[in-house]
Amino acid sequence: MTQRSEFEKVVYDGGFRTLLTQEAIKDRIREMGRQITEDYRGRQPIMIGVLNGAFLFMADLIRHVEIDLEVDFIKISSYGNAKVSSGIVRMLKDINADVKGRHILLVEDIVDTGGSIKFLHEKFMALEPASLRFVTLLIKPANVETDIPIDYVGFSIANEFVVGYGLDYKQILRNLPAVYVMD
Ligand code: PRP
Repeated sequence: MTQRSEFEKVVYDGGFRTLLTQEAIKDRIREMGRQITEDYRGRQPIMIGVLNGAFLFMADLIRHVEIDLEVDFIKISSYGNAKVSSGIVRMLKDINADVKGRHILLVEDIVDTGGSIKFLHEKFMALEPASLRFVTLLIKPANVETDIPIDYVGFSIANEFVVGYGLDYKQILRNLPAVYVMD
């Protein structure tokens, strides 16, 4: 018998608890998109997705933002393959756009310790944008060690290891359509 994949274990074996269903994620993203649409009407923000985790969230979110906007991506890493944030943020790919004087929305999948947000805040403030705000699908309030405000939050969650909908376990399981807790 072939060994079951991690994907199969989560989806078919029920070994993981569903934290956020596809429906719940979809509904919340629709609301977040509506809010961003209202807040940025008349401007043309640049939404910068933080790779890898944010790619699914970003793709779904922008389809609910009904104004002119641009997209770009930055790739950073703080976890590597570990389950706990290393605290050291490395930039693996920079943005291409010139963001001076622009309205920037940085889009994250999750804010855990806030180390990534702190790094991004410092980096982007130095580029003199007209404004800088953060969007995240998930936040773990009990873990956050920075007071940089997160302007748009999808869900506040407990300090549990979550996978799916862009979030990985050793680089896999990002393609799960919902968010699961991995014990
Ligand atoms: C994850 C996540 C955030 C960051 C959050 O990225 O996507 O960027 O960690 O943790 P923090 O608040 O403690 O900094 P990761 O380094 O796992 O890379 P990935 O997005 O490619 O999975």
